[in-house]
Amino acid sequence: MLTHDAKTVAISDMKTVAIIQARMGSTRLPGKVLADLRGQPVLAWVVCAAQATFGVDAVWVATSVAASDDAVAEWCKSNNVAAHRGSEADVLDRYAGAVKASGADVVIRLTADCPLLDPAVIAQTIRLRAVTGADYASNIDPATWPDGLDCEVVTAETLLAAAKEATRASDREHVTPFVRNNRARFSAENLVAPLPGLAAERWTLDTPEDLALLEALAGRLPGDRPPSYLEVLAILDREPQLRVLNKREERNAGFALSLSTEKLDTSRRYDRSQHLIDRAERVIPLGSQTFSKSKTQLPPGAAPLFVTHGDGGKVYDVDGNQYVDLVSALLPNVLGYRDPDVDLAIRRQLNRGISFSLPTTLEMELAERLTRHIPCAEMVRFGKNGTDATSAAVRLARAATRRDRLIMLGYHGWQDWYIGATTRNLGVPAAVSALSHLAPYGDLNAVEALLKKFPNEFAALILEPMNTAEPPAGYLQQLKDLVHRHGALLIFDEIITGFRWSIGGAQARYGVNPDLACFGKAMGNGMPISAVVGRADVMRLMEDIFFSGTFGGEALSLAAAIATIDKLEREKVTDRLWAVGGELMQQVRARVAAAKLDDVVGLVGAAPWAILTYKDHATASKEAVKTLLLRELIAAGVLINASHNVCFAHSAGDIAHVLTAYDHALGVLREALDRGDIERRLGNQVIRPVFSVRAAS
Ligand SMILES: Cc1ncc(COP(=O)(O)O)c(C=O)c1O
Repeated sequence: MLTHDAKTVAISDMKTVAIIQARMGSTRLPGKVLADLRGQPVLAWVVCAAQATFGVDAVWVATSVAASDDAVAEWCKSNNVAAHRGSEADVLDRYAGAVKASGADVVIRLTADCPLLDPAVIAQTIRLRAVTGADYASNIDPATWPDGLDCEVVTAETLLAAAKEATRASDREHVTPFVRNNRARFSAENLVAPLPGLAAERWTLDTPEDLALLEALAGRLPGDRPPSYLEVLAILDREPQLRVLNKREERNAGFALSLSTEKLDTSRRYDRSQHLIDRAERVIPLGSQTFSKSKTQLPPGAAPLFVTHGDGGKVYDVDGNQYVDLVSALLPNVLGYRDPDVDLAIRRQLNRGISFSLPTTLEMELAERLTRHIPCAEMVRFGKNGTDATSAAVRLARAATRRDRLIMLGYHGWQDWYIGATTRNLGVPAAVSALSHLAPYGDLNAVEALLKKFPNEFAALILEPMNTAEPPAGYLQQLKDLVHRHGALLIFDEIITGFRWSIGGAQARYGVNPDLACFGKAMGNGMPISAVVGRADVMRLMEDIFFSGTFGGEALSLAAAIATIDKLEREKVTDRLWAVGGELMQQVRARVAAAKLDDVVGLVGAAPWAILTYKDHATASKEAVKTLLLRELIAAGVLINASHNVCFAHSAGDIAHVLTAYDHALGVLREALDRGDIERRLGNQVIRPVFSVRAAS
């Protein structure tokens, strides 16, 4: 709880020191920290902002011992600014030195390439850390402020712990990632910008183009005090063409570059995960709400079991490990974690409320979008999990046909009508299971045989329009005709393909409209929302059957889904999923072939959801092959369980990292198979087969 209690008062007794990192070396703009801005070096602007910040007791500059940084040290000396000199490359160590030299209890990390820093924003970040008692607070994680207002506040104790323990080159160069990544250990807070859209602004100094913008802004700002960000915005409102000066620069390009050049680290430890799973299992069966996220799906003892947070296409575990996430939350994460547009929509709705006593108009706004994008959608109802949507569709079909039997091709959720037909049917009445028939994908004869065996008894055939294999030519249309000839309905389960194959799902891609279709997963970029859509005459039966839940109209998810769908459309997201996923698929297949592993490892399915397959080897079971491959991919920083679940935020760097991880993992697998010692490497720690719902997986 946030209270102004004794702890806060004690914190105000702490010595708060702003430490500005500054050095002359810069790949893109050497000497930038002393570049002139309206008669003052850039560094002077930063020092000025720090000195003007409420709550700052002292301002220090941390520069390097390199001769090139003598100029920075001299500037500090002649301007009475305290300076500490330390390692040029190991910036974290340099910071630790400055912390000790300054006697700081709390450190404000500023960088000398942010001349337009706003003292009011820095002061709020300081206060945020103080009132929450957090180890770390910033305004960059996630970024909602203009690039160039960056401010991080961290306790000296935390920073010194990082300096002692961090081993990754990027952690040492960028000072705070070790703290930010270790959320289970260091509590972190973020100051969210009060105005939307600010993160698109770039006021930092990395390139000559940036300098041109900053010179233009500096010349228009009052010169006698640090600017407020509102003053900068006002200038840009009046002269928007100024933004063109530096508009092509990417945020955090330097950080991305240092990640890409970092040596592959395969020495991950999962101690906290292993410890926490014991605790969780005392109160939660399997320690997870979702079977496919539980420990049963991962290499035993050699994988993370709990995450702390995500960012774009990456996630972080309780041990502070970073991964490129190829699970994507089991596919809801279509845009990426903390997508700024979706998060903003959620926050705005949060200001109005979450669940209400009557419907909101968001329901119809979202329904209208679905009818616009999804070919078969004339009417829409919402649920939470995908199973809500598939179960509602099945009930509708049974109501429309007054028949009971179902044919199912794929996975459709946890309810009796589906799971009762699989081997994991414990707890399902036999009378219910007897009504559900599984059939193989792509086999019209098998379906026809069932339809003939129980004439006039089938209500519907429900299928994933595609999972492991492309539909054979004409298959979906022939299936539709066949089912209709027998008086049953066709239901597409587009829980995965929806908003991934295209916004309108697989039906839009393959040009076949089912009677009903089910959507979920990616629809709200992680918020719990699903939908059953379809022919109006069938959907109208919703008024007679019963499909109703307290949270069906929960507004945060509706707002998130609207923002997600609008962004999918605006940014042509599904095109990117095909492109990125396709490239990844091709590159991985090439590596598998080069390692001569194509007899045991394969990739099937489509680019937005490519599925890994395994075969037995003379010296190893397919489960052992799978376990070793996943174990090594995870050790190399790729979170993966069954497939490549690409998202919009996966960057070129992320994909390059995945490929490097595959190089490592396939190498280990090749060696283990050659030596015939895979069982020895794994002991009995092999992922057990569970129940197979898709032909090839
Ligand atoms: C094709 C398909 N249908 C239905 C479901 C069930 O969705 P949920 O787990 O959200 O209930 C899933 C979940 O993985 C799925 O992949």
